[in-house]
Amino acid sequence: MRHAPIDSQLFVSNRKRLRALLPPGSVAIVNANDVLPSNADGTLAPIPNSDLFYLSGIEQEQSILVLAPDAFDPNQREILFLREPNELLETWEGRKLKKDAAIKMSGVTQVKWLGEFETILRGLLCDAEFVYLNSNEHKRAEVVVETRDARFVRELQQRYPLHSYRRLAPLLHRTRVVKSKLELELMQRAADITNDGLRRVLNFLQPGVMEYEIEAELIHEFTRQRARWAYNPIVASGANACILHYNENDQPCKKGDLVLLDVGACYANYNADLTRTFPVSGKFSKRQREIYQAVLRVMRASIAGATVGKLHRDWTRESKLMMNEELLSLGLLKKSDIKKQSAETPASQKYFNHGLGHALGLDVHDVWQQAEHFTEGWVLTVEPGIYVPKEGIGVRLENNVVVTANGPVDLTAKIPVEADEIEELMQRAARGRR
Ligand code: GLY
Ligand code: MN
Ligand code: MN
Repeated sequence: MRHAPIDSQLFVSNRKRLRALLPPGSVAIVNANDVLPSNADGTLAPIPNSDLFYLSGIEQEQSILVLAPDAFDPNQREILFLREPNELLETWEGRKLKKDAAIKMSGVTQVKWLGEFETILRGLLCDAEFVYLNSNEHKRAEVVVETRDARFVRELQQRYPLHSYRRLAPLLHRTRVVKSKLELELMQRAADITNDGLRRVLNFLQPGVMEYEIEAELIHEFTRQRARWAYNPIVASGANACILHYNENDQPCKKGDLVLLDVGACYANYNADLTRTFPVSGKFSKRQREIYQAVLRVMRASIAGATVGKLHRDWTRESKLMMNEELLSLGLLKKSDIKKQSAETPASQKYFNHGLGHALGLDVHDVWQQAEHFTEGWVLTVEPGIYVPKEGIGVRLENNVVVTANGPVDLTAKIPVEADEIEELMQRAARGRR
């Protein structure tokens, strides 16, 4: 665990919120993620299971959390099962959680070794009515490998075929989308680290710098602040910025071009998801500035529009219509294009060909339910863009905002976004280099 310790109250209250959604007689079980193989005897870097972390703060592989709020034995209402540490494991893999550390971390008072899991679970299931099992459910996730949770679902149903099984995911989506104060503090930390990384880039960026050198500046800052990448960074100069998921990051940043950075820090598993577009030479051309200002206006208006009670679909539609007007002024759309648009495909789609934003949290594209209206505590990215490949210009700006009863609160407000401020910071850095 690289991040600073987290107040276990965060996880205690998350479990409480989930318990409130479970019907009487339920048992809910959440597994850690598998450590995935790569090549030969290699493995990919372990990624904690977001739901397990949300409910327990535990990041260690093979861990299992069992919640049985109505168990007859009060000591069995919350149990965390962990790998039993031993000398060999510690020599090869490092320290594993001891029981007292896991209790402190999670606030779960009953921690057992995995060897006891089968017997205790059998006892709990004899008394249970409903078994809530977890699954990774995201409309864009095309999962072709069997996850640890999926394997567990299959095996448990074979062993206990007569129980009534239910999906835990929709309940977790409802609770996870609303962030608590402690979660928002961690998200603010992720945003602040991202700010420090981007300011470092503003000091460093000049013609001839390679895209991967910018990546190196950012990860230096993130790592020294106990964070990691929230997702593969996009550092896209010139027309590369028009490739939405560009991440080769292997080209030189050329004089007169823009460079688009879609980068975020992940701190304590909470993510920032940020985009800025900077002029490589420290000054926007007239045309670049016009396009930049159009995107900035749409971002600002869309931030203001992220209010309690709104549906994501309506929020997006409003921004796409605003973008129509901007694209008309930029000469990129004609009135006739707008007349021809359909309700599903606004004319602006030609230059702003992705969503306006998404829920953000323990996952970058966080879990949420599209039929739900925004409520206090939702965190959204707001990320309009204009991409004009024939002009070699791609501009996207992306901030992270919290929906509150008093209007949106921008976690990323400190990150320079005004064109004048960006130019000033870059020109000051250039003077310092001379
Ligand atoms: N960086 C991924 C996204 O903006 O959604
Ligand atoms: Mn992004
Ligand atoms: Mn995003």
